[in-house]
Amino acid sequence: EKVVLAYSGGLDTSIIIPWLKENYDLDIVAACINVGQEDDMEQVEKKAIKSGAVKVYVENVVEEFVKDYVFPSIKANAVYEDKYLMGTSIARPLIAKKLVEIAKKEGAKYIAHGCTGKGNDQVRFETTMAALAPEIKVIAPWRIWDIESREDAIDYANAKGIEIPVTKEKIYSRDMNLMHISHEGGAIEDPKNEQPQDLYLMTRTLEEAKDEPTYVEIYFEKGIPTKLDGKELSPASLLAELNKIGGENGIGVTDILENRLVGMKSRGIYETPGATILMSAHKDLEHLCLDKMTYQYKQMISLKYAELVYNGTWFCSLKEAMDAFIDKTQETVTGWVKLKLYKGNIVFAGMDSPYALYEHSISSFGASDFYNQKDATGFINLFNLPFKIEAMMKSKDEK
Ligand code: ARG
Ligand code: SIN
Repeated sequence: EKVVLAYSGGLDTSIIIPWLKENYDLDIVAACINVGQEDDMEQVEKKAIKSGAVKVYVENVVEEFVKDYVFPSIKANAVYEDKYLMGTSIARPLIAKKLVEIAKKEGAKYIAHGCTGKGNDQVRFETTMAALAPEIKVIAPWRIWDIESREDAIDYANAKGIEIPVTKEKIYSRDMNLMHISHEGGAIEDPKNEQPQDLYLMTRTLEEAKDEPTYVEIYFEKGIPTKLDGKELSPASLLAELNKIGGENGIGVTDILENRLVGMKSRGIYETPGATILMSAHKDLEHLCLDKMTYQYKQMISLKYAELVYNGTWFCSLKEAMDAFIDKTQETVTGWVKLKLYKGNIVFAGMDSPYALYEHSISSFGASDFYNQKDATGFINLFNLPFKIEAMMKSKDEK
């Protein structure tokens, strides 16, 4: 019998291999799904074998991640609780999907993961597995063993002779992919504390950000970014380039006390330079290309979409239906947007689209065939009617 283990080489997953060997009679197939976390995959592979895995899969899914997960969430303008672009949340369904594929290939009945029992990630993984392979049995060691904290985990690793990438001093829990890096735990957990200034890994602090602004021009085709400064790039290269530019300009850091799905609040600090720029540009273009009713209806969809994605129900019928709606709205979201990036700020600097619904001759203050100022008198009379009636009723009541 085999178990496929979601393996990253980090603290949480490192100690799972010896623990699984101690407690189960299963061959461990380690699966390392590369969504752009910049780890040395050869090292990770070696480490998995050294720790006792019988086989290791390393799969690079970065392009798929950006094309099928990051870009759709940008099309949706999906933001959780006003602040979080969900870099971790959207990677989970893809990772879980790949684990399921590997389990099927290996004939494994079990999948194990290193998510704690207190977080969102366990739900996202297992909900995806339930939707894609209901027969799979999940082993979640953090919900079984006596290890309670990251400190305990470090002690266990030391006892088993497993090399680990953290020390007790540097205890942040981080999750990295091409879209973002998250920081939780340690001093961050106390909301009275300002974020530690040495925290960032993708972004310069505002003080250290470039002193000159950088202009970027992004071209969208049906809501999907395809060109940066006139150059056609693959989804992952485009995002990587914007991460670099955004990082230099201190763009895209957010600090939020968020509501987890499992009931508690938790503080997270997220660096999301490239995707923050893309979402800002995308919203500008929607202002130009979507009619008022569609734009405002889509705002409601965005909220619901973010909730679904945060909660890990990426593969559900409602989200499929919302994707169909969003794709319909994006048919005219084509054009370029120019932005000025400067010390953490994203400033609009121009745009154009063949589908622009903005008509200068109507909106400007000059005369127009389509707009007769005299019409406004009647419009305002009818628009105001309920307020007049209400005011009249109120003054009758008072008498
Ligand atoms: N709180 C964020 C979320 O739920 C980030 C989770 C980070 N995950 C991790 N394994 N470090 O999406
Ligand atoms: C974890 O608890 O495994 C990470 C944080 C989260 O899932 O929210």
